[in-house]
Amino acid sequence: MDHFTYRDRVLHCEDVPVPEIAEKYGTPVFVYSSATLLHHLASVQQAFASADPIVAYSIKTNGNLSICKLMAEHGSGFDVTSGGELYRALKSGGTGTKIVYAGVGKTDAEMRDGLENGVFLFNVESEEELYALGAVAQSMGKKAPVALRVNPDLPPKTHAKTDTSVKGVKFGLDIEGVLEVSAKAVGHPGLAIVGLHMHLGSPILSADPYRAGAAKAVALIKEFRKQGHDIQYLNMGGGFGIHYRKQEALPASAFAEAILPAVREVGCKLVLEPGRFIVGNAGVLVSRVLFNKDTGGKHYLIQDAAMNDLIRPTLYDSFHRVWPVAPKAGVPERPEDYEAEIPGTVKQDVVGPVCESGDFLAKGRNLPPLVRGDLLAVFSAGAYGMAMSSNYNSRLRAAEVLVTARTHRLIRRRETFRDLVACEEDC
Ligand code: LLP
Repeated sequence: MDHFTYRDRVLHCEDVPVPEIAEKYGTPVFVYSSATLLHHLASVQQAFASADPIVAYSIKTNGNLSICKLMAEHGSGFDVTSGGELYRALKSGGTGTKIVYAGVGKTDAEMRDGLENGVFLFNVESEEELYALGAVAQSMGKKAPVALRVNPDLPPKTHAKTDTSVKGVKFGLDIEGVLEVSAKAVGHPGLAIVGLHMHLGSPILSADPYRAGAAKAVALIKEFRKQGHDIQYLNMGGGFGIHYRKQEALPASAFAEAILPAVREVGCKLVLEPGRFIVGNAGVLVSRVLFNKDTGGKHYLIQDAAMNDLIRPTLYDSFHRVWPVAPKAGVPERPEDYEAEIPGTVKQDVVGPVCESGDFLAKGRNLPPLVRGDLLAVFSAGAYGMAMSSNYNSRLRAAEVLVTARTHRLIRRRETFRDLVACEEDC
């Protein structure tokens, strides 16, 4: 579900015509719908309500302060994975009691920062990290609250670059060895092992891996408790999939059905770290057509947005729906199936100005003929879009705009040439 609809052949975000936003703020521009964000946050909160969960929005997905503030105002905590993300979470009104600190390589300074700010849980991924955290906590006269992150060794379930629970990835402690690690940590003065964490991968379009992972978590939590650890938290991470192609994603309730029985069995507080599920379908990237070009038997549509704005297609071969902001008569206002033949269209590769052959937003798509200046929308770009953007080719990062009903406001201004060199000027 999202609040991007076509009305009289013009894309609207909530009640705002998207061309109005492109005119006012320029392109490329990320446009977010606050109603969509809040709908998805509420749907997770409601689906899991019986477990009174801590829903910790995964800030890596989209860390814009205005979006994070909206999250905090509506009861969300934060999953952070660096000092910078912790800074954003705190600046957005987050408090340590709802912040979980993840990441396979935390520095001592980051650990100290987390402890000073009272984060309620550190997800710990290796034995060395565990003792480093214990030492930092001890030096501060504290005990670090820890969830051991376990790699449950499940079958592949998503793209190899984002599957985090298959054997051999860098994440988590091996399920076979984790009980040895926890046994050695009993009674450590700087550590309180109070939880178990797993993040299975992202995006996941089935509840089965969660059911399988949760079953493994239950067995381990029982063993941790036998060892004397007071386990209070089960953190099942994020990873819930969204609609990229059509309506392929599961509702939050399907994941709840898979996870909640395990939570009840062990009587833990549930922690979730959804990111994409909340913000993914709440954003579109709007670009303008610069040129058309035919070469090598292909038709290229050259945009002012590129891989530096949205790297997912280049990096993971990800599919994002692409369609004109104002489709002319003769083509559907919005296709039902973007991968099927669409009347009035021709196959086109949607590419940007970056100097790499791998710079594309969509390949071989059925799109109507477009001309210089036409606007194009790249859908489902709210998650890992702006967050993974770069200044490659010294391109300026795009602007971000948040829409609420009939109002829109800039939540990140477009960068300037001065911004590009700001860190170099005084050197
Ligand atoms: N928790 C942990 C420990 C994670 O590593 C992640 C994502 C999340 C939560 C949030 O996952 P989500 O709910 O958003 O699926 N750049 C890739 C995705 C990388 C995911 C990294 N970890 C992409 O664009 O598909």
